[in-house]
Amino acid sequence: GKVAVLMGGDSAERPVSLMSGEGVLKALLSQGVDAHAFDPSERGLHELKTEGFARCFIALHGRHGEDGSVQGALELLGIPYTGSGVMASAVAMDKVMTKRVWIAEGLPTPKFRRLRRGEHGREVTREVPDTLGLPLIVKPAREGSSFGVTKVPGYSGMHEAVAFAAQFDPDVLCEEFIEGDEVTCPVLGEGDAAVALPVIRIQAPDGKYDFEHKYHSDETQYHCPSGLPEAEEREIQRIVVEAYRLLGCRGWGRADLMIRASDRQPFLLEMNTSPGMTGHSLVPRSAQAAGMSYEQLCVHLLAGASL
Ligand code: DAL
Ligand code: MG
Repeated sequence: GKVAVLMGGDSAERPVSLMSGEGVLKALLSQGVDAHAFDPSERGLHELKTEGFARCFIALHGRHGEDGSVQGALELLGIPYTGSGVMASAVAMDKVMTKRVWIAEGLPTPKFRRLRRGEHGREVTREVPDTLGLPLIVKPAREGSSFGVTKVPGYSGMHEAVAFAAQFDPDVLCEEFIEGDEVTCPVLGEGDAAVALPVIRIQAPDGKYDFEHKYHSDETQYHCPSGLPEAEEREIQRIVVEAYRLLGCRGWGRADLMIRASDRQPFLLEMNTSPGMTGHSLVPRSAQAAGMSYEQLCVHLLAGASL
């Protein structure tokens, strides 16, 4: 039947989603799938039903695409979709809720403080560094692609960093900075059948893996194989699969982590439930290293579409 590739949307990550969607659409078409681009910011989702779409590939990122709301609409319409369901999507979109789940189950994630609307004032911006140390990371609780993220070197940068993050989300996450290697690890499947793909080690110039160095720069280096000791890579994969299962993810996901330089302890930062599929993105790179082409990955994910 007809497949809709949901792409675009109305989140800050719209441009990234358009790139992901183009890639997925092209790949599915090349594999003989009757795929069509569908942008929920231009058309009502009910048209999926009236136009007879049998399944959806969700290539949306961020709010309304990755946070359970589109997933909920598709549940109501009865149209199977790729990736996680409503609950896992909603929890994973919120980095604070995600960390709470992981902490409750003993998984390692950096110390944090959440600042809600009304707590963004100068008083807290002194208290937070005193608790978490400096430098620290300030980011919107529900956002992606590094939007609104600042690494704060000293007290004086706090106020501006919190105000910047709050432009994207009134819930601001302040997080202990972990000095060390930046890695990411995709997961495919669900529950006991969830498996990790190879770990990618990311080396951005000056350790600045921001929006520019994610999608535009050619200076960022991606190591896959990661070059990490084998035992370390296996431990990261174990933690990531556990983190994925605990959130109740299905289909696919990608966890981002830091490995603390001082003792090689991995720390989970977040779980992406609708990871990027752009030419610069990480899941396709890791899948490739595991012997799965971009096209095979798309077909595999689509085959797992469910309600
Ligand atoms: N949020 C972007 C799309 C990613 O995690 O790949
Ligand atoms: Mg993310």
